[in-house]
Amino acid sequence: MSALKIYHEQNSAQPTFSSTQAADITRQLKGLGVRFEQWTTDATIKPGDTAESVLAAYRKDIDRLVAEEGYQTVDVVSLSRNAANKEELRKKFLSEHTHSEDEVRFFVGGEGLFTLHIGQQVCEVLCQRGDLISVPADTPHWFDMGPNPDFIAIRFFNNPEGWVAKYTGNAIADQFSRLEN
Ligand SMILES: [Fe+2]
Repeated sequence: MSALKIYHEQNSAQPTFSSTQAADITRQLKGLGVRFEQWTTDATIKPGDTAESVLAAYRKDIDRLVAEEGYQTVDVVSLSRNAANKEELRKKFLSEHTHSEDEVRFFVGGEGLFTLHIGQQVCEVLCQRGDLISVPADTPHWFDMGPNPDFIAIRFFNNPEGWVAKYTGNAIADQFSRLEN
């Protein structure tokens, strides 16, 4: 179940806010300038489906988001628990970093834990099937796909070449939750 927990950055033991209700999650994140949405589809998506059929299943919402935000490219990525490089990929985004572009992900299947560090607040967003999150450009954050990743996601980019991680050097991510799967 999708979930949001908000902590003060100096107290990872006790959240100040916690909810698994989509409307609450959306409202709280919106107040922090973060887009969170839940999308549905009538199409059935199976492992191994082509990127085209995955995009077609969510075409209406994709077109709306692109029109609102002006994203230039959209693609589909997936990772399975059998991937040989899963540990290396997991480590890459476990430390606090920023991007000069929005990081926009829609979970077609599987899950991932995005944690955003906004002012003195740390917001853990567990994204699962049907969830869209947009981490605004320049927002410190980290991402955990867990030790056994198994997801398929749609990504939106302003400029894929510009989408590189700039590490902040802050070790705060070590004090907050990891995803177990
Ligand atoms: Fe990132």
